[in-house]
Amino acid sequence: MKVKVAEKCGFCPGVRNAINLARKTLAENSGGKVYCLGQIIHNNDIVDELSEAGLETVDSIDEIEGGTVLIRSHGATLAEIEELEKKGVRIVDATCVRVKRVQRIARELSKERYKVVVIGDENHPEVKAVVGYAENVAVIGSREDLHKLSGHGKLGVMCQTTQSPDHFSGTVAEIMDYGFSELKIVNTLCSETKKRQDAAVKLCKEVDVMFVLGGLHSANTRKLAELCKKHNNRTFHLQNWRELDKKLVCGIETVGVTAGASTPDRVIDSFVEHVKAFGEAGE
Ligand code: F3S
Repeated sequence: MKVKVAEKCGFCPGVRNAINLARKTLAENSGGKVYCLGQIIHNNDIVDELSEAGLETVDSIDEIEGGTVLIRSHGATLAEIEELEKKGVRIVDATCVRVKRVQRIARELSKERYKVVVIGDENHPEVKAVVGYAENVAVIGSREDLHKLSGHGKLGVMCQTTQSPDHFSGTVAEIMDYGFSELKIVNTLCSETKKRQDAAVKLCKEVDVMFVLGGLHSANTRKLAELCKKHNNRTFHLQNWRELDKKLVCGIETVGVTAGASTPDRVIDSFVEHVKAFGEAGE
């Protein structure tokens, strides 16, 4: 059996930076609690590891009492930052530079009196944070949300960093039909996401079974799995090797593996090792 790993997969620079900053903050902490507002990344292995090292994940600012607060790579809303400043806590900002760019663009478009449109998932923390940077804003998750737009005035359209280029361009094409007097489109897709999606699509066409590794709540991992499924219906989204059903790889010639931007290398490596072992045992 051959096991092929996608040329580009796993941790992106934004996630790597957030984890390194969390480890550094914990190592240098000389007292007081270190909090993270929401899960630092959508990966339970890493969340558990950092929790053991002292990182306390909270869902609300009300749970924070003094100490240090880490802002994860998805960012936080301006209102949250202001509330944290009022509390007098130390803020360590691990917002990904690419997400910061999206926030800055949302604020600039808003100042220039554009109605800001964010194509993405309104429940995703990155989108929730970006929405806080604009005044007149609509989130478009699917065509059912297009009714939120009315056909006049200035529209500034941008995208959640981890959406697929096809979804972005398809939604923009539908918005075009609404006849706005001015339409400004800013490409805020993350190139790291695109590299992972391109590599995954290329690989899944070459293999008999494709595995996409990553947290079940990880938006970019789910998108990778969706894309792969379109090209290879034997695609499975798993969190790690423990979820692997041996029958899926027994007698299989070529297995493909990719992983979302929040999946650690060790999860990918141990998955490959186990697939090979299961494959050999079944032959
Ligand atoms: Fe940043 Fe792109 Fe990763 S936006 S967090 S480098 S997927």
